[in-house]
Amino acid sequence: MYRQQILDHYKNPRNYGELEDPDIEHVGENPMCGDTIKMFVELADDGDTIERVRFVGDGCAISQASASMLSGELHGKSLETVEAMDRDDVADMLGVELSPMRIKCAVLAEKVAQDAIAIHKGEADPVETTTE
Ligand code: FES
Repeated sequence: MYRQQILDHYKNPRNYGELEDPDIEHVGENPMCGDTIKMFVELADDGDTIERVRFVGDGCAISQASASMLSGELHGKSLETVEAMDRDDVADMLGVELSPMRIKCAVLAEKVAQDAIAIHKGEADPVETTTE
């Protein structure tokens, strides 16, 4: 059973949609199932603080709820803070114990965000994120 909060974010995703001219844009996929998340990020004038996040996606309740929750969490954070997040932060955010399979669903959005930042900084090649 998923917690009510997860189902609520799945059915009513926050910050759902696209940004027209984002500073950062990146897509990721869980290759096990084909579920996807695409994130759009707008930065503040300092070039480091996340000002707006939007996402679109298609997938299971955990992956999409996780993207919805993360989109709210990222607001106001520095790029460095987001890069330092790990799967425990995602698990805490979701508030449920997850099996190894479901953890991949949960971390997809976080990986997309972190890869997006690495690509933005020129620290990674602009290839699609996967949970593998
Ligand atoms: Fe595909 Fe969860 S089953 S990301």
